[in-house]
Amino acid sequence: MTPSQPDYSGPVEIAKDIYWVGNRTEKNFESNAYLRIFRGNGKQFNLLIDPGPSPDFNIIAEKIEQVLGADYHLDLVYLNHQDPDVCINTVYFQRHFPKLQIVTSEDTWRLVRFYGLKEKQFIATENFKTGKIKVKTGHQLRLIPTPYAHFRGACALYDEEQKVLFTGDLFGGLTETADLYAEKDYWEGIKTFHQIYMPTNLALKKAVQDFRQQVGEMQIIASQHGKIIREDLIDYFMDKLESLPVGLDLKNESRIIIENHIKAFNDILDNIEKTVDPSIVSTLLDSFKSDGSFPNNFVIKNNRIYSLKVAVDGAFEMFFSELCNILTPEQKPAVRTIIINSLADWNIATETPCPEDSDSHQENTSAEDMLEEGQNEPPPAGDAPLDFEKKELDNLLDDLMGD
Ligand SMILES: [Fe+2]
Ligand SMILES: [Fe+2]
Repeated sequence: MTPSQPDYSGPVEIAKDIYWVGNRTEKNFESNAYLRIFRGNGKQFNLLIDPGPSPDFNIIAEKIEQVLGADYHLDLVYLNHQDPDVCINTVYFQRHFPKLQIVTSEDTWRLVRFYGLKEKQFIATENFKTGKIKVKTGHQLRLIPTPYAHFRGACALYDEEQKVLFTGDLFGGLTETADLYAEKDYWEGIKTFHQIYMPTNLALKKAVQDFRQQVGEMQIIASQHGKIIREDLIDYFMDKLESLPVGLDLKNESRIIIENHIKAFNDILDNIEKTVDPSIVSTLLDSFKSDGSFPNNFVIKNNRIYSLKVAVDGAFEMFFSELCNILTPEQKPAVRTIIINSLADWNIATETPCPEDSDSHQENTSAEDMLEEGQNEPPPAGDAPLDFEKKELDNLLDDLMGD
Protein backbone atom coordinates (compact mmCIF):
# COMPACT_ATOMS: atom_id res chain seq x y z
CA MET A 1 0.00 0.00 0.00
CA THR A 2 1.25 3.45 -0.82
CA PRO A 3 0.74 6.31 1.62
CA SER A 4 -1.13 8.52 -0.85
CA GLN A 5 -3.92 7.37 -3.12
CA PRO A 6 -2.56 6.83 -6.64
CA ASP A 7 -4.29 8.55 -9.54
CA TYR A 8 -5.51 6.19 -12.25
CA SER A 9 -7.71 8.63 -14.10
CA GLY A 10 -5.34 8.51 -17.09
CA PRO A 11 -3.51 5.76 -18.98
CA VAL A 12 -0.48 4.15 -17.31
CA GLU A 13 2.51 3.05 -19.39
CA ILE A 14 3.38 -0.31 -17.81
CA ALA A 15 6.18 -1.08 -20.31
CA LYS A 16 7.46 0.81 -23.34
CA ASP A 17 4.50 1.33 -25.70
CA ILE A 18 2.18 -0.80 -23.52
CA TYR A 19 -0.51 1.13 -21.68
CA TRP A 20 -3.01 0.11 -19.04
CA VAL A 21 -6.21 1.78 -20.24
CA GLY A 22 -8.64 0.17 -17.80
CA ASN A 23 -11.03 1.67 -15.31
CA ARG A 24 -10.93 1.78 -11.52
CA THR A 25 -14.36 1.53 -9.88
CA GLU A 26 -13.15 1.06 -6.30
CA LYS A 27 -15.11 -2.17 -6.13
CA ASN A 28 -13.43 -5.42 -5.13
CA PHE A 29 -13.43 -6.69 -8.66
CA GLU A 30 -11.75 -4.46 -11.23
CA SER A 31 -11.27 -5.08 -14.95
CA ASN A 32 -8.19 -4.17 -16.95
CA ALA A 33 -7.63 -3.43 -20.64
CA TYR A 34 -4.31 -2.84 -22.39
CA LEU A 35 -3.18 -0.92 -25.45
CA ARG A 36 -0.03 -2.03 -27.29
CA ILE A 37 1.47 0.25 -29.92
CA PHE A 38 3.88 -1.32 -32.39
CA ARG A 39 6.17 1.01 -34.32
CA GLY A 40 8.67 -0.10 -36.95
CA ASN A 41 9.39 -0.42 -40.66
CA GLY A 42 7.82 3.02 -41.07
CA LYS A 43 4.49 1.71 -39.79
CA GLN A 44 2.36 1.86 -36.67
CA PHE A 45 0.01 -0.88 -35.56
CA ASN A 46 -2.36 -0.49 -32.61
CA LEU A 47 -3.57 -3.49 -30.66
CA LEU A 48 -6.17 -3.49 -27.89
CA ILE A 49 -6.02 -6.47 -25.54
CA ASP A 50 -9.21 -7.59 -23.72
CA PRO A 51 -11.29 -4.44 -24.40
CA GLY A 52 -13.40 -4.81 -21.28
CA PRO A 53 -16.99 -4.54 -20.03
CA SER A 54 -19.48 -2.02 -21.41
CA PRO A 55 -19.69 0.23 -18.28
CA ASP A 56 -15.96 0.92 -18.79
CA PHE A 57 -16.23 1.72 -22.51
CA ASN A 58 -16.13 5.53 -22.30
CA ILE A 59 -13.20 5.56 -19.90
CA ILE A 60 -11.22 3.03 -21.95
CA ALA A 61 -11.90 4.95 -25.17
CA GLU A 62 -10.85 8.23 -23.54
CA LYS A 63 -7.63 6.74 -22.25
CA ILE A 64 -6.77 5.30 -25.66
CA GLU A 65 -7.38 8.75 -27.12
CA GLN A 66 -5.06 10.28 -24.54
CA VAL A 67 -2.30 7.94 -25.74
CA LEU A 68 -2.93 7.97 -29.49
CA GLY A 69 -4.56 11.36 -30.12
CA ALA A 70 -8.08 12.29 -31.22
CA ASP A 71 -7.86 10.80 -34.72
CA TYR A 72 -6.63 7.44 -33.52
CA HIS A 73 -7.22 4.15 -35.16
CA LEU A 74 -7.32 0.63 -33.77
CA ASP A 75 -6.08 -2.18 -36.01
CA LEU A 76 -6.57 -5.30 -33.95
CA VAL A 77 -8.30 -6.60 -30.85
CA TYR A 78 -7.04 -9.65 -28.99
CA LEU A 79 -9.53 -11.63 -26.88
CA ASN A 80 -8.28 -14.08 -24.25
CA HIS A 81 -11.68 -15.78 -23.94
CA GLN A 82 -15.36 -15.19 -24.48
CA ASP A 83 -16.70 -13.57 -21.31
CA PRO A 84 -18.54 -10.26 -21.74
CA ASP A 85 -16.29 -8.51 -19.21
CA VAL A 86 -13.39 -9.32 -21.56
CA CYS A 87 -15.03 -8.82 -24.94
CA ILE A 88 -18.17 -6.75 -25.17
CA ASN A 89 -16.47 -3.42 -25.94
CA THR A 90 -15.09 -5.03 -29.10
CA VAL A 91 -18.57 -4.58 -30.56
CA TYR A 92 -18.52 -0.82 -29.93
CA PHE A 93 -14.96 -0.41 -31.17
CA GLN A 94 -15.78 -2.34 -34.31
CA ARG A 95 -18.58 0.13 -35.01
CA HIS A 96 -16.08 3.00 -34.81
CA PHE A 97 -13.37 1.16 -36.74
CA PRO A 98 -15.16 -1.00 -39.34
CA LYS A 99 -11.94 -2.74 -40.40
CA LEU A 100 -10.97 -3.68 -36.85
CA GLN A 101 -9.74 -7.28 -36.84
CA ILE A 102 -10.08 -9.77 -34.02
CA VAL A 103 -7.65 -12.50 -33.03
CA THR A 104 -8.91 -15.17 -30.69
CA SER A 105 -9.15 -18.96 -30.53
CA GLU A 106 -11.73 -20.87 -32.58
CA ASP A 107 -13.46 -21.99 -29.40
CA THR A 108 -13.75 -18.42 -28.20
CA TRP A 109 -14.93 -17.18 -31.62
CA ARG A 110 -17.78 -19.71 -31.71
CA LEU A 111 -19.24 -17.82 -28.74
CA VAL A 112 -18.13 -14.20 -29.22
CA ARG A 113 -19.60 -14.07 -32.73
CA PHE A 114 -23.01 -13.93 -31.02
CA TYR A 115 -22.09 -10.49 -29.70
CA GLY A 116 -22.43 -9.36 -33.32
CA LEU A 117 -18.76 -9.27 -34.31
CA LYS A 118 -17.83 -9.43 -37.98
CA GLU A 119 -16.96 -12.94 -39.10
CA LYS A 120 -14.78 -11.77 -42.01
CA GLN A 121 -12.50 -9.92 -39.62
CA PHE A 122 -11.86 -12.88 -37.34
CA ILE A 123 -8.43 -14.51 -37.37
CA ALA A 124 -8.05 -17.74 -35.39
CA THR A 125 -5.04 -18.20 -33.11
CA GLU A 126 -4.85 -21.71 -34.56
CA ASN A 127 -4.00 -20.18 -37.97
CA PHE A 128 -0.61 -19.04 -36.69
CA LYS A 129 1.13 -22.35 -37.22
CA THR A 130 4.34 -21.28 -35.46
CA GLY A 131 2.33 -20.17 -32.44
CA LYS A 132 3.46 -16.59 -33.09
CA ILE A 133 1.82 -13.52 -34.55
CA LYS A 134 4.33 -11.59 -36.66
CA VAL A 135 3.34 -7.94 -36.73
CA LYS A 136 4.22 -5.91 -39.85
CA THR A 137 6.39 -3.64 -37.70
CA GLY A 138 8.70 -6.59 -37.08
CA HIS A 139 7.44 -7.44 -33.58
CA GLN A 140 6.28 -10.86 -32.44
CA LEU A 141 3.56 -12.03 -30.11
CA ARG A 142 3.53 -15.57 -28.82
CA LEU A 143 0.25 -17.42 -28.32
CA ILE A 144 0.08 -19.69 -25.27
CA PRO A 145 -3.19 -21.63 -24.87
CA THR A 146 -4.31 -22.08 -21.25
CA PRO A 147 -7.09 -24.66 -21.66
CA TYR A 148 -9.75 -24.65 -18.93
CA ALA A 149 -8.18 -21.66 -17.20
CA HIS A 150 -10.93 -20.90 -17.09
CA PHE A 151 -12.39 -21.50 -20.58
CA ARG A 152 -11.29 -24.37 -22.81
CA GLY A 153 -10.34 -21.90 -25.58
CA ALA A 154 -8.54 -19.38 -23.35
CA CYS A 155 -5.20 -18.26 -24.79
CA ALA A 156 -2.56 -16.01 -23.20
CA LEU A 157 -0.51 -13.58 -25.26
CA TYR A 158 3.19 -12.88 -24.73
CA ASP A 159 4.86 -9.74 -26.02
CA GLU A 160 8.36 -10.92 -26.87
CA GLU A 161 9.93 -7.50 -27.10
CA GLN A 162 8.62 -6.05 -23.84
CA LYS A 163 8.38 -9.43 -22.08
CA VAL A 164 4.84 -8.79 -20.91
CA LEU A 165 2.47 -11.74 -20.54
CA PHE A 166 -1.24 -10.99 -20.95
CA THR A 167 -3.04 -13.75 -19.08
CA GLY A 168 -6.76 -12.92 -19.16
CA ASP A 169 -8.38 -14.17 -15.96
CA LEU A 170 -5.29 -16.07 -14.82
CA PHE A 171 -3.55 -14.13 -12.02
CA GLY A 172 -6.59 -11.86 -11.83
CA GLY A 173 -7.88 -11.19 -8.35
CA LEU A 174 -9.99 -9.20 -5.95
CA THR A 175 -8.41 -6.02 -4.69
CA GLU A 176 -8.46 -4.25 -1.35
CA THR A 177 -6.53 -1.19 -2.50
CA ALA A 178 -6.55 0.94 -5.63
CA ASP A 179 -2.85 0.34 -6.39
CA LEU A 180 -2.30 -0.97 -9.88
CA TYR A 181 0.76 -3.02 -8.98
CA ALA A 182 0.64 -6.13 -6.81
CA GLU A 183 2.38 -6.65 -3.50
CA LYS A 184 2.53 -10.06 -1.83
CA ASP A 185 -0.76 -9.47 -0.02
CA TYR A 186 -2.55 -9.51 -3.40
CA TRP A 187 -2.35 -13.31 -3.11
CA GLU A 188 -5.51 -13.48 -1.00
CA GLY A 189 -7.46 -11.76 -3.79
CA ILE A 190 -5.99 -14.07 -6.46
CA LYS A 191 -6.76 -17.10 -4.34
CA THR A 192 -10.43 -16.24 -3.77
CA PHE A 193 -11.01 -15.38 -7.44
CA HIS A 194 -9.36 -18.55 -8.73
CA GLN A 195 -11.07 -20.80 -6.19
CA ILE A 196 -14.42 -19.63 -7.46
CA TYR A 197 -13.80 -19.31 -11.21
CA MET A 198 -11.12 -21.87 -12.10
CA PRO A 199 -12.39 -25.44 -12.51
CA THR A 200 -9.41 -27.48 -11.35
CA ASN A 201 -5.82 -27.18 -10.22
CA LEU A 202 -4.76 -29.32 -13.21
CA ALA A 203 -5.56 -26.40 -15.50
CA LEU A 204 -3.57 -23.96 -13.36
CA LYS A 205 -0.60 -26.32 -13.15
CA LYS A 206 -0.51 -26.77 -16.91
CA ALA A 207 -0.77 -23.05 -17.59
CA VAL A 208 2.00 -22.16 -15.14
CA GLN A 209 4.26 -24.93 -16.46
CA ASP A 210 3.71 -23.74 -20.03
CA PHE A 211 4.46 -20.14 -19.05
CA ARG A 212 7.67 -21.25 -17.37
CA GLN A 213 8.75 -23.32 -20.36
CA GLN A 214 7.83 -20.85 -23.05
CA VAL A 215 8.48 -17.46 -21.49
CA GLY A 216 11.24 -17.80 -18.97
CA GLU A 217 12.23 -14.15 -18.87
CA MET A 218 8.87 -12.42 -18.44
CA GLN A 219 8.94 -9.07 -16.68
CA ILE A 220 5.26 -8.31 -16.21
CA ILE A 221 2.07 -10.34 -15.86
CA ALA A 222 -0.87 -8.24 -17.03
CA SER A 223 -4.16 -9.92 -16.22
CA GLN A 224 -7.70 -8.84 -17.00
CA HIS A 225 -8.66 -8.25 -13.35
CA GLY A 226 -7.03 -6.77 -10.31
CA LYS A 227 -3.37 -5.88 -10.15
CA ILE A 228 -0.34 -6.05 -12.43
CA ILE A 229 2.47 -8.31 -11.28
CA ARG A 230 6.04 -7.12 -11.71
CA GLU A 231 9.13 -9.24 -12.25
CA ASP A 232 10.19 -9.58 -8.60
CA LEU A 233 6.89 -11.26 -7.62
CA ILE A 234 6.22 -13.38 -10.72
CA ASP A 235 7.82 -16.54 -9.32
CA TYR A 236 6.16 -15.97 -5.95
CA PHE A 237 2.68 -15.88 -7.47
CA MET A 238 3.36 -18.66 -10.02
CA ASP A 239 4.57 -21.01 -7.27
CA LYS A 240 1.48 -20.36 -5.20
CA LEU A 241 -0.95 -20.58 -8.10
CA GLU A 242 0.29 -23.91 -9.39
CA SER A 243 -0.39 -25.61 -6.06
CA LEU A 244 -3.72 -23.93 -5.31
CA PRO A 245 -6.78 -26.19 -5.05
CA VAL A 246 -9.70 -24.57 -6.86
CA GLY A 247 -13.19 -25.32 -8.14
CA LEU A 248 -13.85 -29.04 -8.17
CA ASP A 249 -10.75 -29.72 -6.05
CA LEU A 250 -12.53 -28.02 -3.16
CA LYS A 251 -15.48 -30.38 -3.42
CA ASN A 252 -13.14 -32.92 -1.88
CA GLU A 253 -13.05 -30.97 1.35
CA SER A 254 -14.65 -33.03 4.06
CA ARG A 255 -18.28 -32.07 4.63
CA ILE A 256 -17.87 -32.60 8.34
CA ILE A 257 -14.96 -30.18 8.51
CA ILE A 258 -16.85 -27.56 6.52
CA GLU A 259 -19.90 -27.97 8.75
CA ASN A 260 -17.79 -27.84 11.90
CA HIS A 261 -16.33 -24.53 10.79
CA ILE A 262 -19.74 -23.09 10.00
CA LYS A 263 -21.01 -24.20 13.39
CA ALA A 264 -17.96 -22.71 15.13
CA PHE A 265 -18.40 -19.40 13.26
CA ASN A 266 -22.07 -19.29 14.25
CA ASP A 267 -21.36 -20.20 17.89
CA ILE A 268 -18.89 -17.34 18.00
CA LEU A 269 -21.52 -15.01 16.54
CA ASP A 270 -24.16 -16.24 19.04
CA ASN A 271 -21.90 -15.66 21.99
CA ILE A 272 -20.62 -12.29 20.86
CA GLU A 273 -24.21 -11.21 20.31
CA LYS A 274 -25.30 -12.41 23.75
CA THR A 275 -22.36 -11.41 25.88
CA VAL A 276 -20.31 -8.71 24.14
CA ASP A 277 -22.16 -6.49 21.63
CA PRO A 278 -24.76 -7.46 18.99
CA SER A 279 -23.55 -4.69 16.69
CA ILE A 280 -20.25 -6.57 16.21
CA VAL A 281 -22.20 -9.41 14.60
CA SER A 282 -24.21 -7.21 12.26
CA THR A 283 -21.10 -5.23 11.24
CA LEU A 284 -19.19 -8.44 10.60
CA LEU A 285 -21.95 -10.03 8.52
CA ASP A 286 -22.40 -6.80 6.55
CA SER A 287 -18.70 -6.81 5.75
CA PHE A 288 -19.13 -10.21 4.08
CA LYS A 289 -21.75 -8.88 1.68
CA SER A 290 -20.31 -8.44 -1.77
CA ASP A 291 -20.43 -5.02 -3.44
CA GLY A 292 -22.09 -6.78 -6.38
CA SER A 293 -18.92 -7.12 -8.45
CA PHE A 294 -18.23 -10.63 -7.17
CA PRO A 295 -20.08 -13.53 -5.45
CA ASN A 296 -20.37 -13.50 -1.66
CA ASN A 297 -17.77 -15.69 0.02
CA PHE A 298 -20.20 -16.58 2.80
CA VAL A 299 -23.84 -17.39 2.18
CA ILE A 300 -25.77 -15.74 5.00
CA LYS A 301 -29.31 -16.64 6.05
CA ASN A 302 -31.18 -15.39 9.11
CA ASN A 303 -28.15 -13.46 10.30
CA ARG A 304 -25.93 -16.52 10.47
CA ILE A 305 -23.48 -18.22 8.10
CA TYR A 306 -25.27 -20.86 6.07
CA SER A 307 -22.58 -22.08 3.67
CA LEU A 308 -19.15 -21.22 2.27
CA LYS A 309 -18.29 -20.35 -1.32
CA VAL A 310 -14.55 -20.56 -0.71
CA ALA A 311 -12.23 -23.13 0.86
CA VAL A 312 -12.41 -23.57 4.62
CA ASP A 313 -8.97 -22.08 5.26
CA GLY A 314 -9.81 -18.98 3.22
CA ALA A 315 -13.14 -18.60 5.05
CA PHE A 316 -11.34 -18.96 8.38
CA GLU A 317 -8.86 -16.22 7.48
CA MET A 318 -11.58 -13.89 6.19
CA PHE A 319 -13.80 -14.44 9.23
CA PHE A 320 -11.10 -13.70 11.77
CA SER A 321 -9.36 -10.88 9.95
CA GLU A 322 -12.68 -9.04 9.52
CA LEU A 323 -13.63 -9.72 13.14
CA CYS A 324 -10.26 -8.45 14.26
CA ASN A 325 -10.77 -5.19 12.38
CA ILE A 326 -14.11 -4.57 14.06
CA LEU A 327 -13.22 -5.21 17.71
CA THR A 328 -12.13 -2.51 20.11
CA PRO A 329 -9.17 -3.31 22.39
CA GLU A 330 -11.60 -3.56 25.32
CA GLN A 331 -13.72 -6.18 23.53
CA LYS A 332 -10.79 -8.41 22.56
CA PRO A 333 -10.29 -10.37 25.82
CA ALA A 334 -13.94 -11.44 25.97
CA VAL A 335 -14.04 -12.34 22.28
CA ARG A 336 -10.79 -14.24 22.64
CA THR A 337 -12.38 -16.46 25.26
CA ILE A 338 -15.39 -17.06 23.03
CA ILE A 339 -13.18 -17.99 20.09
CA ILE A 340 -11.02 -20.40 22.06
CA ASN A 341 -14.10 -22.16 23.45
CA SER A 342 -15.88 -22.41 20.12
CA LEU A 343 -12.87 -23.65 18.16
CA ALA A 344 -12.25 -26.26 20.83
CA ASP A 345 -15.92 -27.30 20.86
CA TRP A 346 -15.77 -27.99 17.14
CA ASN A 347 -12.33 -29.61 17.20
CA ILE A 348 -10.73 -26.91 15.10
CA ALA A 349 -7.06 -26.88 15.92
CA THR A 350 -4.53 -24.24 15.03
CA GLU A 351 -0.93 -24.61 16.03
CA THR A 352 -1.21 -22.02 18.78
CA PRO A 353 -4.85 -21.12 19.37
CA CYS A 354 -4.05 -18.47 21.93
CA PRO A 355 -0.48 -17.18 21.82
CA GLU A 356 0.65 -15.89 25.14
CA ASP A 357 1.29 -12.22 25.49
CA SER A 358 2.31 -10.31 28.55
CA ASP A 359 -1.10 -8.72 29.05
CA SER A 360 -3.16 -11.86 28.71
CA HIS A 361 -1.68 -13.44 31.86
CA GLN A 362 -2.97 -10.68 34.03
CA GLU A 363 -6.11 -9.70 32.23
CA ASN A 364 -7.67 -12.94 31.27
CA THR A 365 -6.68 -15.89 33.32
CA SER A 366 -9.85 -17.78 32.43
CA ALA A 367 -8.76 -18.07 28.80
CA GLU A 368 -5.38 -19.40 29.87
CA ASP A 369 -7.04 -21.81 32.30
CA MET A 370 -9.06 -23.33 29.52
CA LEU A 371 -5.92 -23.96 27.54
CA GLU A 372 -4.39 -25.65 30.57
CA GLU A 373 -7.24 -28.14 30.49
CA GLY A 374 -5.88 -29.70 27.34
CA GLN A 375 -7.27 -27.62 24.51
CA ASN A 376 -3.80 -26.74 23.36
CA GLU A 377 -2.64 -30.27 22.77
CA PRO A 378 -1.53 -30.81 19.20
CA PRO A 379 -4.09 -32.71 17.11
CA PRO A 380 -3.21 -36.32 16.37
CA ALA A 381 -1.70 -36.94 12.93
CA GLY A 382 -4.41 -37.08 10.29
CA ASP A 383 -6.73 -34.82 12.25
CA ALA A 384 -5.91 -31.83 10.10
CA PRO A 385 -6.54 -32.81 6.50
CA LEU A 386 -6.73 -29.19 5.38
CA ASP A 387 -3.58 -27.42 4.46
CA PHE A 388 -3.81 -24.48 6.81
CA GLU A 389 -1.03 -22.00 6.43
CA LYS A 390 -0.29 -22.18 10.11
CA LYS A 391 2.04 -19.23 10.28
CA GLU A 392 -0.58 -16.99 8.72
CA LEU A 393 -3.24 -18.23 11.12
CA ASP A 394 -0.93 -17.68 14.04
CA ASN A 395 -0.29 -14.14 12.88
CA LEU A 396 -4.00 -13.61 12.48
CA LEU A 397 -4.75 -14.85 15.95
CA ASP A 398 -1.79 -12.91 17.32
CA ASP A 399 -3.33 -9.83 15.83
CA LEU A 400 -6.73 -10.65 17.25
CA MET A 401 -5.36 -11.46 20.67
CA GLY A 402 -3.01 -8.51 20.84
CA ASP A 403 -4.21 -5.20 22.11
FE1 LIG B 1 -13.65 -15.08 -17.61
FE1 LIG C 1 -12.78 -11.89 -16.46
